Amino acid sequence: MSSDQEAVLVTGAARGIGRATAERLAADGFHVVLADLNGDDARAAAAAITASGRSARGATLDIRDRSAVAALLDSMPRIDAVVNNAAIFWDGPFEAASVKDLTEMFEVNVVGMFIVAQEAARRMQRGGRIVNISSRAYLGGASHAAYTASKAAVVGLTRGMAVDLAPRGITVNAVAPGLVETPMFRSLSAERQRDILRLQLSGTIGAPADLAHAIAFFASRGAHYCTGQVLVVDGGKSLGSNGQ
Ligand SMILES: NC(=O)c1ccc[n+]([C@@H]2O[C@H](COP(=O)([O-])OP(=O)(O)OC[C@H]3O[C@@H](n4cnc5c(N)ncnc54)[C@H](O)[C@@H]3O)[C@@H](O)[C@H]2O)c1
Repeated sequence: MSSDQEAVLVTGAARGIGRATAERLAADGFHVVLADLNGDDARAAAAAITASGRSARGATLDIRDRSAVAALLDSMPRIDAVVNNAAIFWDGPFEAASVKDLTEMFEVNVVGMFIVAQEAARRMQRGGRIVNISSRAYLGGASHAAYTASKAAVVGLTRGMAVDLAPRGITVNAVAPGLVETPMFRSLSAERQRDILRLQLSGTIGAPADLAHAIAFFASRGAHYCTGQVLVVDGGKSLGSNGQ
């Protein structure tokens, strides 16, 4: 990467929305570090980006591990933006969820995000942009109360961080995806996938690139006047009607 090229860290970038976002940000001119528990796939995704003439590097990272997060950020010559995308999902009726399910979800979706954002903000020398990935599910939804709680916490974290980091020129925004065609969605049963699709206003499902487009806006310098916001990208599902 050249010294005046901006650098971005994307977590959970081995696949799905994170990978599409890394590809988009590299095309937008960033040097992109793709971090994931699955380091092999993150490195393969980074290699595909560099093969197309862009600048990227893949790394193994558990976002719950503060010293590993700090070491990765210290290995970057600069940090201008972060996309806090890594998360886990638990699907099932409320009464079947255990405290362990809830705790694990908060450990990754909230505590891990908190650690990455904090360590990155401490290293942002010239201001910066932090984009946290929530979910349309933060508004509520069937069969994932623990996930909903974690994604609502992401919105709270985003708004609180936005206030505290504004004096340092760091913006913090959230993108809340609706249904997106990724391994997370494909891991659901066919019946559950059908039920979810029936509730889509558009009758279609978003592509990872649709989310990358919204995330790239908040990660761009041009979005500097926007902070503490939540952009729901869900094909209209949050309007509350499927036209029937
Ligand atoms: N797919 C959807 O329909 C959908 C809808 C709403 C919100 N979201 C949100 O969008 C984001 C991306 O979703 P996706 O569908 O692309 O997910 P995905 O499951 O396809 O990918 C998530 C990635 O995060 C990584 N990861 C998990 N735990 C990690 C950890 N502790 N440290 C580092 N990496 C870790 C996984 O290895 C995986 O590569 C998530 O925050 C998710 O909650 C997705």
